[in-house]
Amino acid sequence: MHLAIIGAGFVGLSMGVVLADKGHKVLLVDVDKAKVEKINSGIAPFYEPKLSELLEKHVGNNLKATTNYSELEKAEIIFICVGTPSKPDGSIDLKYVISACESLKDVLKHAKDYKLIVVKSTVLPTTTEKVIIPILEKSGKKAGKHFGICVNPEFLREGSAINDFLNQDRIVIGAMDKKSGDILEKFYRNDFPSSPIVRVDLRTAEMIKYASNAFLATKISFINEIGNICKKIGIDVYKVVEGMKYDPRIGGHFLNAGIGFGGSCLPKDLKALINFAKELGEHPKLLEAVNHVNETQPERLVELAKQRIGELKGKKVAVLGLAFKPGTDDLRETRALPIITKLLDEGAEVIVYDPIAKLPEELNGSVKVASSLEEAIKEAEIIKIVTDWEHFKELINLEHYLEGKLIFEGRRIFDVKPENLEIEGICW
Ligand SMILES: NC(=O)c1ccc[n+]([C@@H]2O[C@H](COP(=O)([O-])OP(=O)(O)OC[C@H]3O[C@@H](n4cnc5c(N)ncnc54)[C@H](O)[C@@H]3O)[C@@H](O)[C@H]2O)c1
Repeated sequence: MHLAIIGAGFVGLSMGVVLADKGHKVLLVDVDKAKVEKINSGIAPFYEPKLSELLEKHVGNNLKATTNYSELEKAEIIFICVGTPSKPDGSIDLKYVISACESLKDVLKHAKDYKLIVVKSTVLPTTTEKVIIPILEKSGKKAGKHFGICVNPEFLREGSAINDFLNQDRIVIGAMDKKSGDILEKFYRNDFPSSPIVRVDLRTAEMIKYASNAFLATKISFINEIGNICKKIGIDVYKVVEGMKYDPRIGGHFLNAGIGFGGSCLPKDLKALINFAKELGEHPKLLEAVNHVNETQPERLVELAKQRIGELKGKKVAVLGLAFKPGTDDLRETRALPIITKLLDEGAEVIVYDPIAKLPEELNGSVKVASSLEEAIKEAEIIKIVTDWEHFKELINLEHYLEGKLIFEGRRIFDVKPENLEIEGICW
């Protein structure tokens, strides 16, 4: 099929290469000219496992990027995958969705055939009905008659985006009418036959995404709070989870206590849902508490060091990890940032190391960047593990650099505490 994807970011490009690999003709449309040029030269604009090889394989054949919306005329299904960031007050910023829809409206105006528009960007319930459809109908074409509309939230995770899209644990299709839903279901059924498909209306599909992310965020803040209690009385929260996870009602996923969740989705989607609930006159106490635990958890890693050694002023601290999780170079809402900022506020000298992620611009000049694990830890007096990269387990073999140094784990990287290292966890 001829497919178009609006927004060649993490979601758009990751799903684009998979769909090209399935044999579709995929056109990626993005306003970022530099990104489009990179993609067309076969260079992935961000790190994601398997992305580069699939991009190289299909660019120029099944896959092409453009900044030009007028090339969309052949597209049968158009996926909207632009970003939906937070505004400073936590509410959702729809500016990219609105600008993409304004451009799509002109495509629809001149379209000779029926097109299906699929909203994959995460948008709050009723956005498609109240914002997206009205803009698209300014084309003079009618939703449900000249074009179809579906909401099809995306659940892939950075660091495993390609595999996640290939093996979707469920495909949620919210449709404005039967025809739209049937077209999208047939499309997915052909290429992803083993994924269960859930058919709902537009606003239910939008809510499924928010409810899923809010639930995952709740699990993390829940176990962090339990971990904070455990820490006070010398209990290892990971052993507690070991004893909980076999209960199928609980499960073991998303119960890794630590410095909290970051990334491009959980924090912003949680805040957007809180804001939305308040607009509806609800007081989402549970969700607010989940957010509060997450905002305060990183500070605890710094406090822990202060409790052990007192003042951090002038102390050399190595921060291991910048990315919000391993397997990605994404820094959005990374917990590393509040930790580094707090360390700098305390007067510490910070040296950071991440195997892939680059230092965010706002920290340029304030911290040193090491080019290897050894370089980061050599001079440091205190070491903080902030991202659970496998590579950091190498610490165990670098004991000659670590004598007399304290290591604080913000993420649990050692299942068993190494005997040769002086190590303390945030919740264990
Ligand atoms: N990143 C994830 O892991 C993930 C997972 C599930 C869902 N989501 C959701 O998917 C959506 C996209 O997220 P992302 O991480 O891929 O975002 P992103 O910021 O990585 O990419 C968005 C892209 O859209 C482009 N863009 C902006 N306005 C445009 C326009 N008018 N026309 C064409 N392109 C435009 C940007 O240049 C950018 O390349 C968001 O709503 C997000 O919440 C993200």
